[in-house]
Amino acid sequence: MASAPSSATPVKVESGVAPLRAGQGHSFLLRRLHSLTGIVPIGFFLIEHFVSNAFATKGPGAYTKQVEFLSGFPFVVGLELFGIWLPILYHSLYGFYIWHRGESNVADYPWAGNWMYAAQRWTGAVAFFYMVWHTWHLRFSGVHILTYPASAFGKVQMEFQHPWAIAFYALGIICASWHFAYGLWLFAAKWGIAQGPIARRRWGYVCVIIAIGFIAVGAVTMYSFLTTPQQPYQPSAGDMDSFTMR
Ligand code: HEM
Repeated sequence: MASAPSSATPVKVESGVAPLRAGQGHSFLLRRLHSLTGIVPIGFFLIEHFVSNAFATKGPGAYTKQVEFLSGFPFVVGLELFGIWLPILYHSLYGFYIWHRGESNVADYPWAGNWMYAAQRWTGAVAFFYMVWHTWHLRFSGVHILTYPASAFGKVQMEFQHPWAIAFYALGIICASWHFAYGLWLFAAKWGIAQGPIARRRWGYVCVIIAIGFIAVGAVTMYSFLTTPQQPYQPSAGDMDSFTMR
């Protein structure tokens, strides 16, 4: 009589990052979309956001010009909705779902992989709560920056009135930077761009440099807001004139 296969049959576990495979139902598509949205458009937006804010290092005038440039785009709210908010919402909610399901991005658990796996989830979670708080304060409450770009510098400075708020900004910048940089590494491994252990190790060094670069730009930008004398953030009569003349 043939015996049933033993439940103790060892399962072969490959090392490294598991590629995204077709044939796993619609979750394959949703995971690919999660992976892709991390780069396009969210990653691109993150780069633009760090660069735009870095104009603060050139003073309030340069910062105002950059905000004016961005708010001058046609269909700004549509661009924000489809290019930023909905993709971030999808990536975040699906990210929490992946976390909840305990789906792994590494097939075995070497020490570093285990830590990186946890760090990718926790930095995503911190970034999520940071983004909700940050956008509520700067985009959806108080002076409307898109209408009054000259108020932007002072409004950001008002964010830094409390040491806890400064600390939360620093934490948000570190988490978003690390999450994106390690995300670049994951993406290259999953989509077959960095193949083999040597390419992945080298790409890993580049991603660490990218993370440090983002954190450094964020730190210098914060320093500029903190060391410039407080700028007015309530729109003046002049701002209103220039707005109505457009
Ligand atoms: C600052 C905004 C964010 C950016 C730029 C970003 C970017 C990325 C990138 C590029 C990846 C790699 C894609 C891949 O796995 O192939 C990734 C992965 C991931 N993200 Fe985000 N993300 C952001 C916010 C979030 C949030 C708020 C969460 C919510 C928890 C999250 C959860 C995850 C998870 C769980 C992974 C790993 C997926 C896996 O292990 O397969 N992300 N992210």
